[in-house]
Amino acid sequence: MHEVFDLKLYLAERKREVEAALETSLPPPTGLQRSIIEAARYSLFAGGKRLRPILCLTAAEVVGGDSRPIMPAACALEMIHTYSLIHDDLPAMDNDDYRRGQLTNHKVYGEAIAILAGDALMTEAFELVARLQDAPGQSPDRILRAIRILVKAAGYRGMIGGQAIDLECENLETDIATVEYMHVHKTGALLSASLEMGALLGGGSPEDTARLRRYGHHFGLAFQITDDLLDIEGDAVEMGKKPGSDAARNKKTYPALLGMVRSKESAREHVEQALQELAAFGAAAEPLRALARYLLVRRA
Ligand code: IPE
Ligand code: IPE
Ligand code: MG
Ligand code: MG
Ligand code: MG
Repeated sequence: MHEVFDLKLYLAERKREVEAALETSLPPPTGLQRSIIEAARYSLFAGGKRLRPILCLTAAEVVGGDSRPIMPAACALEMIHTYSLIHDDLPAMDNDDYRRGQLTNHKVYGEAIAILAGDALMTEAFELVARLQDAPGQSPDRILRAIRILVKAAGYRGMIGGQAIDLECENLETDIATVEYMHVHKTGALLSASLEMGALLGGGSPEDTARLRRYGHHFGLAFQITDDLLDIEGDAVEMGKKPGSDAARNKKTYPALLGMVRSKESAREHVEQALQELAAFGAAAEPLRALARYLLVRRA
């Protein structure tokens, strides 16, 4: 019998699993590093959908692997993502006051500590991936490949490159090809890396790993397009951040360049393309199918 996949339940269970692991990944704030640990933990546990770790764990299972031993890699992705949000909200960047339903990190701890809290999360992420050395079934070669995927996606060839373009384009005439490039890098790269790392560390074949990476590329584009749409149509309470930030800073977004209708069409096309990449997989890919479809109706 065909059972309807319950995405809400799936996400809730996976989120609990990820948060329990994150809890042990940073020590309680004591000693001389107290303030930096406290600030890092403030943003890490402020809420958040935990999509990147969930995508990583799911990808490992889609290729037939065990997700439990690779939890440190999943936590690393959430740390990199959280650091990127802390820095993205700084006055020098998007200058936002709310994130994950709470005051942004710099509003609570000041800019200097917010910068350092981001730096701390980013660097600790690599310790977590390296910790896979102690996980069953992982080879040094595979761990190094995972680190290279993460470095490429997080750094100037990925997320940081995209964030720089995002800021530079605030005051420039920009075409849609540039905005797509920016979205692919600032958001798509880390999402795609989440899937690729999960598939690789789960023991997936090169073909399956590439399929999931491409799924992540389209998922990431659809995700950032819908983030742009929510900045116009979304609700502050549901999102935990204030809409209207993009227009206030003259951000180059899909709706700013294409309008709402064509942006929604574009998001739909990328969801379709993401789904096509899953054609080779069976029932194990059901969470990824449901997640892609959810992008078109998400409210947060
Ligand atoms: C927000 O990401 C930043 C973007 C890349 C658009 P999420 O919407 O995944 O934020 P959290 O983790 O749920 O807070
Ligand atoms: C952020 O894009 C992408 C990151 C790498 C953090 P946005 O600036 O649109 O994200 P939000 O809307 O502030 O979450
Ligand atoms: Mg931004
Ligand atoms: Mg922002
Ligand atoms: Mg946004």
